[in-house]
Amino acid sequence: MKITILYFSKTGNTEKAASYIKEGLMETGDFEIKLMNLNEDSTIDKAFINESETVIMGTPTYAANICWQFKKWFDTDWDCQLGGKLGAAFATANAMHGGGDIALQAMISHMLVRGMLVYSSGAGCGRPFIHLGPIGIGIDNGVEQRKNMFNIFGKRVGEQSIRLFGNVKK
Ligand SMILES: Cc1cc2nc3c(=O)[nH]c(=O)nc-3n(C[C@H](O)[C@H](O)[C@H](O)COP(=O)(O)O)c2cc1C
Repeated sequence: MKITILYFSKTGNTEKAASYIKEGLMETGDFEIKLMNLNEDSTIDKAFINESETVIMGTPTYAANICWQFKKWFDTDWDCQLGGKLGAAFATANAMHGGGDIALQAMISHMLVRGMLVYSSGAGCGRPFIHLGPIGIGIDNGVEQRKNMFNIFGKRVGEQSIRLFGNVKK
C-alpha cells in the first residue's frame, strides 16, 4: 500500500514532523511511503499520489491558516485524484495559540471538498489526545519534544489505512 506524506516546509519544522510520522507508519505496516515537499517541484510525484490509498498533509501555520503554497496547490492541481483516499492533517506553528488548529481545520475542509475520508486520530482514540491532528510548536525544539505524538499519529493513520484498504504483509 502506498502512502504519501505531502507537506510544505521552508525552515525544516514541518519536514521534521513529517519524518516522525513516517517512522510511526513504518512501525505499523509494510507501506511504500514517499515524502514530498511542495517547496520543490521536483519532489511532487503525481503518479505516486494518485496510486496512494492515504495522503497525509502537513502545513506550517501562516497567519492562522494553511500556508499559501498549500492553498495554491489545492486551487491549481486537479490532476491529483484525492477522492476516496484517506486524509489526515498535521501542522506546525510558532505559538501555542498561533492558529494551528485553524490551519488544520482549513486543511481538513480542502480534503473534504476533494472527497477524501478524513481521519484525525482524535481524542476518542486515547492518549496522547490529538484532536484535529498533531501540532508541533517550532521554537525551542517543540517539534522534537512532540516526536512521540507524531510517531503515534503515524501509527494510528497506518492502522486506519490497513483497516480501510486491506491488510498488508510485514
Ligand atoms: C508568513 C508566515 C506566517 C506565519 N504565521 C504564523 C501564525 O499565524 N501563527 C504561528 O504560530 N506561527 C506562524 N508562523 C510561524 C510558522 O508557522 C512556524 O515557524 C512553522 O513551524 C514553520 O514551518 P517550517 O519550518 O516547516 O517552514 C508564520 C511564519 C511565516 C513565514
